[in-house]
Amino acid sequence: MSELHVVTGAFGFTGKHVARRLLDAGISVRTLTGHPDRSSDVRNAIEVRPLQFTDIRRLASDLEGARVLYNTYWVRFAHGRTTYDSAVANSLAFIRAAQEAGVERIVHVSITSPDEKSPLGYFRGKAGVERAIRESSLSHAILRPAVLFGDEGILINNIAWLLRRFPLFVVPRSGEYRLQPIFVEDLAELMVAQGKRDDNSTTDAIGPETFTFNELVTLVGRIVKSRARVVHLPPTLALRLSQIIGVMRRDVILTREEVDGLLADLLVTESAPTGGTKLSEWMTAHRESLGRRYQSELARHF
Ligand SMILES: NC(=O)c1ccc[n+]([C@@H]2O[C@H](COP(=O)([O-])OP(=O)(O)OC[C@H]3O[C@@H](n4cnc5c(N)ncnc54)[C@H](OP(=O)(O)O)[C@@H]3O)[C@@H](O)[C@H]2O)c1
Repeated sequence: MSELHVVTGAFGFTGKHVARRLLDAGISVRTLTGHPDRSSDVRNAIEVRPLQFTDIRRLASDLEGARVLYNTYWVRFAHGRTTYDSAVANSLAFIRAAQEAGVERIVHVSITSPDEKSPLGYFRGKAGVERAIRESSLSHAILRPAVLFGDEGILINNIAWLLRRFPLFVVPRSGEYRLQPIFVEDLAELMVAQGKRDDNSTTDAIGPETFTFNELVTLVGRIVKSRARVVHLPPTLALRLSQIIGVMRRDVILTREEVDGLLADLLVTESAPTGGTKLSEWMTAHRESLGRRYQSELARHF
């Protein structure tokens, strides 16, 4: 019988590519997902169980038999009863359940520049989860991406959507802060490669190109032939404007935390690239579809 690995969110963005690669390698895949009924081209090839954190015994039994857990679980922003604190508590429960279930290894997706002292809940929460993993008995690989791109990606697609539709594109403050996007399939590749190892590691997962936010917006605008004028505004005003469009789309387009993370240059590292795909080339190849449809975080996850 082939080895079993568990992947969170195999009908979602990163998890889908991890599951596909594992199946191609002859590994049996079980997914834990908040959307067990979502359609997917991998759904008939894998075992599906609901991702829940209220019954920890059941969570452990859902992990039983697996050697490796690929954990992408996190929340992008607080909404309703979901908070970063609840995401941390759920993640810690997950790590405990994995140990109880006898899982040997966790391949965990974090974020660049996590920091337990950060005023930003996203970066602080991710750092707390990283520590819990290091203090656990699991062998671990922690991968830290800055921003992901690919089919169904949200951030880059929605920048393109805004640039296609509106006469103005608002950039918070100078736009000179930087980011290092990685292709979602390159991240999945790294994750699966790490699943085969048994040493402990923490690695920045970043692509080969570094952009300032201004450069990124200019490039996306050129690729989708946008005529929007780029204006720089104080972050609070930029966020207000994004909230107005967010109400129209029934989504949260941008959060204060995301702006503050960008302004603090938390999405850029000194590390060598770990992914090979260039965002500039990927966007050029996908110029027709990029930003045609808005991708909603709320519709996807809440
Ligand atoms: N996307 C980026 O640009 C980016 C940048 C840096 C770091 N990361 C990190 O990379 C990892 C994968 O990101 P992704 O964009 O590929 O995530 P994703 O597939 O959209 O979601 C990953 C998992 O988290 C669950 N999840 C997401 N939001 C949730 C919510 N509000 N409530 C409950 N469960 C939720 C998903 O549930 P379902 O199974 O129900 O879909 C899925 O199992 C995450 O840990 C993220 O923090 C992402």
